[in-house]
Amino acid sequence: MSIKGRIGIIGSPVAHSLSPKIHNAALQSLGLDVIYELWETSEENLNERIEMLHASDILGANVTVPFKQKVIPLLDETEGFAREIGAVNTIIKRNGLLIGTNTDAEGFIIPLTEELNKLQLDFPQVHVLLIGAGGASRAIAFALAKAGSQNITIVNRTLESARELAHSLSLFSTQLNVDAYATISSLEGFDCIINATSIGMAGGPRPNEQPCDLSDVSSSALVVDIVYAPKETLFLKSAQELDLPRLGGIPMLIQQAALSFELWTEEKAPLNTMRTAIENVI
Ligand code: ATR
Repeated sequence: MSIKGRIGIIGSPVAHSLSPKIHNAALQSLGLDVIYELWETSEENLNERIEMLHASDILGANVTVPFKQKVIPLLDETEGFAREIGAVNTIIKRNGLLIGTNTDAEGFIIPLTEELNKLQLDFPQVHVLLIGAGGASRAIAFALAKAGSQNITIVNRTLESARELAHSLSLFSTQLNVDAYATISSLEGFDCIINATSIGMAGGPRPNEQPCDLSDVSSSALVVDIVYAPKETLFLKSAQELDLPRLGGIPMLIQQAALSFELWTEEKAPLNTMRTAIENVI
């Protein structure tokens, strides 16, 4: 049965979101009669926006900053892992109910697993330094724990948020050693360093900076930056200068979009089309 309708992204601001470009390219390439829209939503209008999703032509939605957490009580259900993470980035409709789910977590783990495999590493062996304790970090931290990570150190400007995330993680996985700091003096001993803050992001609070100095990092550590604009952040450039393995934010962006796309359309996501759509704008 061919599907028809609308999908959109709920957030504020959403004008610069890349999701419409990725999804509309994918929808068109499969010949689906579906359009992906920008649904700029103020805090006061969030309830009304969620109510509107019940309309029969709406297939689902993405949720972004600042509503990934606030949307949860407004939905009929939140799937297990999204509930644990405490953040919903995708809403699907099932039997007339609005279900919240999270594709950021798996979207991150798929490309990270590929990179670790190239280095012949597996999650339980890897000591991760996770920089940041906001919404994106929460999804990543839970995804790491679910994938089998046993050692995670969280560093965040606001120590309280890092501690809170470490506490939720330790309740989620009893196998996990997790600690939290406001700053870190040395990167020695970490096998994977992940920037999950907005530092280095074009238009963000510190676009021309990097989250930490890589000078004493181990020579085989994998450096990951979830920032995807610019494609080569200062952090990734520093890693390149040190000849370290690297993973940028674009593969995660594509994978989370692909997973959401498949939930809404029940079609296999055209990954190459999605990648080209992003590369054309970044
Ligand atoms: P997202 O959903 O993208 O994770 P978020 O929840 O607002 O967005 O989290 C942003 C992250 O970037 C947080 O870890 C934040 O640190 P605080 O918890 O201390 O706010 C971090 N961050 C943002 N701006 C920063 C800055 N100028 N310096 C250091 N960290 C910053």
